[in-house]
Amino acid sequence: MALRLKERFEKKFDDEIRFFKGMMQGPKTVGAIAPTSSITARRMASVVDTVHSGLPVLELGPGTGVITKAILARGVKPEDIVSVEYSEDFFQHLTRTYPKVRFIHGDAFNLGKTLGALSEQKFDSVVSAVPLLNFPMEARISMLEDLLDRIPAGRPVMQISYGPVSPIIARPHRYHIQHYDFIVRNIPPAQLWVYRRA
Ligand SMILES: C[S@@+](CC[C@H](N)C(=O)[O-])C[C@H]1O[C@@H](n2cnc3c(N)ncnc32)[C@H](O)[C@@H]1O
Repeated sequence: MALRLKERFEKKFDDEIRFFKGMMQGPKTVGAIAPTSSITARRMASVVDTVHSGLPVLELGPGTGVITKAILARGVKPEDIVSVEYSEDFFQHLTRTYPKVRFIHGDAFNLGKTLGALSEQKFDSVVSAVPLLNFPMEARISMLEDLLDRIPAGRPVMQISYGPVSPIIARPHRYHIQHYDFIVRNIPPAQLWVYRRA
């Protein structure tokens, strides 16, 4: 028991160091000061329902893999997770830690190219930790439009952000915005937003 606790602590510490290194190398790309908390990760993963839809889930910006782990904990098969990570370091670490998850090293803003053979694949839902606030609004909107076209109407795009308002402006004729949660037990406190096709 004590050994398991020690291993868990060491793994958490490793993840934090890895995250810190990532942040020093690319602060704009990483866009947060600490890995997502497990509470936040569970809330984000709670919208995934690959069993009913029979479709894989699309994860964006997995970083150290906290959200990937929470999706797996919901009983999603690793092969049913397609996860796009921009950073080479995080990507290498993720493929070692979760060898059966389908990680892709590439840019979530250019999914047509990044997904390659999977570019026509429909997904159950999207769970994204890409730091949208570091990108122009135009790019955020076109990414969301692209994501909503890759999931069935009514299914969610779940996005974490750290500002007080939705990181993507309202366009009610195109999509609905739901403020899903505010989680204080996250560094910094996190806002969760869900977008669905109108
Ligand atoms: C806030 S961190 C994610 C934190 C992650 N949930 C964790 O706890 O480790 C943002 C992640 O998005 C990735 N990222 C940034 N821009 C990206 C892009 N254009 N495409 C894919 N991933 C991107 C970063 O490399 C980083 O892993």
